[in-house]
Amino acid sequence: MAALRELPWPAKVYFVVLIGAAGVLLARSALAYDRLEWSTLLVLALLFLVCESVPTLLSVRQAAVSVSYSAALAAVVLVGPQGAALVAATAVLSVRPGLPMVKRLFNGAQFAVCGYAAGLAYNWAGGTVGLPQKTDFPEIILPYGAATGVFLAINFVLTALILALAEGVGKRQVPVRNMVQFLVSYCGYATFGLLIAGLWATVQSISAVLVLLPLFVARWAFGQYHAQQRSYEATIAALCQAVETKDYYTRGHCTRVSLASSMIAEEIRMGTERLNAIRYAGMLHDVGKLGVPTKVLQKDGVLTEEEFAAIQLHPMRGLEIVRGIDFLDEAFAGIMHHHEKYDGRGYPMGLAGAEIPEFARIIAVADAFDSMTSDRSYRKAKPISDAVGELRKNAGTQFDPVMVSAFIRALDRVGWQPRTMPEPAEPVREMAAKDHDDPTTPIQVVSER
Ligand SMILES: [Fe+2]
Repeated sequence: MAALRELPWPAKVYFVVLIGAAGVLLARSALAYDRLEWSTLLVLALLFLVCESVPTLLSVRQAAVSVSYSAALAAVVLVGPQGAALVAATAVLSVRPGLPMVKRLFNGAQFAVCGYAAGLAYNWAGGTVGLPQKTDFPEIILPYGAATGVFLAINFVLTALILALAEGVGKRQVPVRNMVQFLVSYCGYATFGLLIAGLWATVQSISAVLVLLPLFVARWAFGQYHAQQRSYEATIAALCQAVETKDYYTRGHCTRVSLASSMIAEEIRMGTERLNAIRYAGMLHDVGKLGVPTKVLQKDGVLTEEEFAAIQLHPMRGLEIVRGIDFLDEAFAGIMHHHEKYDGRGYPMGLAGAEIPEFARIIAVADAFDSMTSDRSYRKAKPISDAVGELRKNAGTQFDPVMVSAFIRALDRVGWQPRTMPEPAEPVREMAAKDHDDPTTPIQVVSER
């Protein structure tokens, strides 16, 4: 969300109304001080504050939902609507350096409203505020479920409203997959809230530690995993950048081959782990070009046998370059064999049919397709229909027919953004005359004998 002055006026009005409503609720809640269990409330408020600050403290940026939901929902059971509103309002104070005041106020206000409404829903559905007793289970689940649903619904509506009203200012599209992740995480955290409330009767505030500590540890580990993933991606991106720097006209080729390979892999229902590996393999398939002299790679005209042999070495060179990177795993086979042909006339080993690793059969299709549908120095990009026709024509000789049909199905389903290069600002000299991945213009080699 942008700073308040940058927001359009309907968003400003909404913001002020929300803050006002939350202010009234909080004032009313504080006035009911004689009915509140203040010691429990303060511990829960502290807990909520810590949970709200945790994403920053643990550097877990990917987590879709803050653990603070658990604390807010536990407050609904233990200290009622007024207490829950006061607990949730502490979001204003969360330790998140750089978080603008307008966003803090919005978070505090919306959580206070959600907490209060969830508390009312809990009461309305027959829940009793206070320490849950053994006899309250399992009946408490129904009112707790009502509170959870109301908290989520109001939280969603209030957030969606500000995003819609602030249209054009920091607008974000939330993918459906993220929404599902959010809902699942939310339901999980809601369960932890009930667990805290249930244990409170026995071990009071220690219940929060008992319940949330393992959760924090899990989130920390999750954050570490994501940090590792990011460093993998950065390593691969750096290698791709190095390859593409050699040739202006292949810019973005690695990424697009990776995308097309993933489309095929998804179409043939490859598992998640292998999907990641094929993505990496697509990105790095031509990394061995780093080991081929640039003047050979970009030579205009017919190649000598020696020069062609140097090009044919690039899959092996690629393997040599990345062999030490453990996480690439099955990607190695894709890099090494992406120029094998289905009829056995490819290189480096002349494998045929099912002898060619599956990754390599996928990359071969993706590589040729992107090469044909991208501009090259010696020709403009072909239309997608022509490239598909070429893939069909060469299915069974150059390409695995299964992978060709899988790719065509994926193309029909999700489409493809054709890629044309803007004219380079400065004339690029010595550009590749023949792209070795382009099946429509095979490399010509002259015998030196
Ligand atoms: Fe290649």
